[in-house]
Amino acid sequence: MMIIDRSRLQRDDPGSYLHFMSEQHRIRVNGVELAFDAAPNTPLLYVLRNDGALNGPKFGCGLGQCGACTVIASGSAIRSCITPVADVVDRDIVTLEGLGTVQSPHPLQKAFMDEQAAQCGYCVNGMIMTAKALLDANPKPDESEIKRALSNNLCRCGSHVRIVRAVQRATGHGGQ
Ligand code: FES
Ligand code: FES
Repeated sequence: MMIIDRSRLQRDDPGSYLHFMSEQHRIRVNGVELAFDAAPNTPLLYVLRNDGALNGPKFGCGLGQCGACTVIASGSAIRSCITPVADVVDRDIVTLEGLGTVQSPHPLQKAFMDEQAAQCGYCVNGMIMTAKALLDANPKPDESEIKRALSNNLCRCGSHVRIVRAVQRATGHGGQ
């Protein structure tokens, strides 16, 4: 198993929020163990972005209300901005980067591109990760189930219609 240890970088940054009262943690992200120093209540989002260089999850509201930071933990979509890193040490974390690649995108990623289901794109991480958790639990959701699953993910650009169509396309239903 590959281990990424970025703790030295952190120690060398005296201004880092994570430097304060930090301790060693290891979490498993996209099948890889990530080792880092952080205070136990550090938001998972900060660790993923700052220590893991995983920039799929976005900082939107920072309050658990917009969904831009969504990742999957042990099969459930969670808001990484309000999840203390100490709460996920035993859970398998999947981020957008764990789904597919540019050369071989996940069906949801491909469907979002095919439907042009974004304007600025800031919400797309949360939309795709929430949809992924939905499809893992229910591979053939109907339109109302998709809308219900995504109802707490905000899109300030108003791309909801295309986003729902993209999720339908990924299920093999709908799409144009
Ligand atoms: S940034 Fe986490 S829910 Fe808005
Ligand atoms: S595409 Fe801009 S926030 Fe959704």
